[in-house]
Amino acid sequence: MRKKIVAGNWKMNMELAEGLKLAESVDTYFRLKPSRAEVVLCTPFIHLAGVAELLKDGKLCLGAQNCASEPSGAYTGEISPAMIKSTGAGYVIIGHSERRSYYHEDNDILNRKAKLALSNGLKVIFCVGEVLGERESGKHFEVVKNQVENGLFNLTAEEITNVVVAYEPVWAIGTGLTATPEQAQEIHQFIRGLFSEKYGKEIAENLTILYGGSCKPSNAAEIFSMPDVDGGLIGGAALKKDDFIAIVEAIR
Ligand code: 13P
Repeated sequence: MRKKIVAGNWKMNMELAEGLKLAESVDTYFRLKPSRAEVVLCTPFIHLAGVAELLKDGKLCLGAQNCASEPSGAYTGEISPAMIKSTGAGYVIIGHSERRSYYHEDNDILNRKAKLALSNGLKVIFCVGEVLGERESGKHFEVVKNQVENGLFNLTAEEITNVVVAYEPVWAIGTGLTATPEQAQEIHQFIRGLFSEKYGKEIAENLTILYGGSCKPSNAAEIFSMPDVDGGLIGGAALKKDDFIAIVEAIR
């Protein structure tokens, strides 16, 4: 059975003290009431070391939201996968649509980041998803196929076992619009099919594929009930303890 995961992507929110407080309250809850899913907090870089300390010997996992494409050196302002790993984090989000669009990260650089993160022992949450115009013109399958193939398909089968794919339709991110459970299922199944063709059925069946985009306590259970939806990548609702916990608890 493949792993179910709910990851909170805090994006660029919360100063240090607020972030530590949120992490502590979520951590306390799941120490008492362990979840069926793996729960990952993807915090800003500055929170990582402090949150790692809080999460020690607990049930939650920790991740970053981006990493450098180079291992070390004169890259002012960048944070390498090795640095992330050294904080105690185990995951990194790569290819979020905000990185692709605002920072012009293309498949080539995202692929380099993914490889470097994996070679440093991090698990990668690799995001894909189409913009509204692409969906409206029926190009979403083609767009997602291109992102998956060019972002990931030169990885080895062994590396793929440490990759999680997050399907996040850009038109659903932060907009209050959500893909219907059927729309999510259709494209998740399509993504799993691509992995099956490339890496074989077993690897594809074990691949965790998350849905992201305006996930809330009110819609999470229905989306998570789809057979190829293995959890969620949560933005805004991950900043509210009760909402985030309710979404994690929607995993069956
Ligand atoms: P929202 O849940 O705020 O729509 O954000 C989704 C997302 O981008 C998670 O990475």
